[in-house]
Amino acid sequence: MTNASSTDASSTDLRTVAVGGAQPYAISIAPDLLSSDAVAAPLRGRHALLVSDGHVAPLYAQRVQDALRRARPEACVALHVIPPGEAAKTLAHFAGAVDALAALGATRDACVYALGGGVVGDLAGFAAACWMRGIDCVQLPTTLLAMVDSSVGGKTAVDLPQGKNLVGAFHPPRAVLADTTALRTLPARELRAGFAEVIKYGAIADAPFLDWLDANADALLSGDDAALSEAIARSCAHKASIVERDPYEHGDRALLNLGHTFGHAIETEQAANSGGYSAPDNDSFNHGEAVAIGMVLAARLSKALGLASDTDVEILRALLQRFGLPVSLPPSLDAQALLAHMRLDKKAQASGLRFVLWDGIGRARVVADVAEDAVLAALRAA
Ligand code: NAD
Ligand code: GLY
Repeated sequence: MTNASSTDASSTDLRTVAVGGAQPYAISIAPDLLSSDAVAAPLRGRHALLVSDGHVAPLYAQRVQDALRRARPEACVALHVIPPGEAAKTLAHFAGAVDALAALGATRDACVYALGGGVVGDLAGFAAACWMRGIDCVQLPTTLLAMVDSSVGGKTAVDLPQGKNLVGAFHPPRAVLADTTALRTLPARELRAGFAEVIKYGAIADAPFLDWLDANADALLSGDDAALSEAIARSCAHKASIVERDPYEHGDRALLNLGHTFGHAIETEQAANSGGYSAPDNDSFNHGEAVAIGMVLAARLSKALGLASDTDVEILRALLQRFGLPVSLPPSLDAQALLAHMRLDKKAQASGLRFVLWDGIGRARVVADVAEDAVLAALRAA
């Protein structure tokens, strides 16, 4: 398997990105993959649990089940549906997925198929990580964000009221199949949210990619298949190259969290204010939007610490805005409360706040012991 390469495969529409390392797997990117034989290929045993959510299951679950049963008529295939949205990424819904594996009689060679966005991928992946101490998981991402980020690299988790992703495991998928046709039904706001993570790759590692995104913004936002496939493949190649050399985030993988310390604090504070994680509305943000604001805050903090230039901060802010993403904090989010959430972020250490800071376009670094005063100043300035 080539390391982190993006290559044309047998069909001109199929792109594959190989993720190397101890447990290598392939990311396939093409239209109509969910109804293809590629779905059944990774199934080693007889049991398949398809986990999806209440928006995605009615649209795509039948075609996945049909593809599995066509290729593997002897297989026991069950569907488990969770409510849509971040509010379902809980220990209780995780337990529901595990119960569904028990009801299926899933054996050690069973496979969990995660059909949906990052919420389904994280929760179903965690169920696969825990059932019999780890069974196969195939990620079938249906949001742009999940195709470029959450389905790749094996981070699985559920949230607690105290913070996002606090309970989880590293459990790399056996395969990732990104069916670009699924993006046609994705709400425009969710498509835009995915571009926050796409832009992140350019911001931390690939200046020409940011130029390409700027030049192709109209095609990407209008759902142009070729442009989207290119953006997904380039993003996945970046993610693959990082996770294969640092699967457990002891080093460079942390760079993928640019903007996430601020972003997770925004999501946690919203949840605290509204009695739990809920669907984003006009006054609140989804994950990608929170990360977009977080990247601008991280860039401004970096500028205040003498790392990034004003020009670069403005280029990043303008590009995020061009993709319809929010770039400033609403007054309803209190700076002190956000800081308190950051102290519990997984990137924080006993010694103090740890941030991914930005050296300008294409370069980032992890900085420990960032002064709380500087963070508060960045929050208040926003
Ligand atoms: P999501 O899973 O909540 O999906 C967004 C919305 O779109 C949901 O309402 C969903 O039902 C709907 N939807 C999904 N696909 C659809 C389709 N094709 N057509 C119509 N509707 C569709 O959100 P997300 O943005 O995909 O993922 C966010 C989650 O991912 C967060 O919990 C975040 O913490 C996690 N995440 C994890 C990683 C990781 O490495 N594991 C990385 C980034 C984000
Ligand atoms: N999304 C951050 C990571 O996978 O490490």
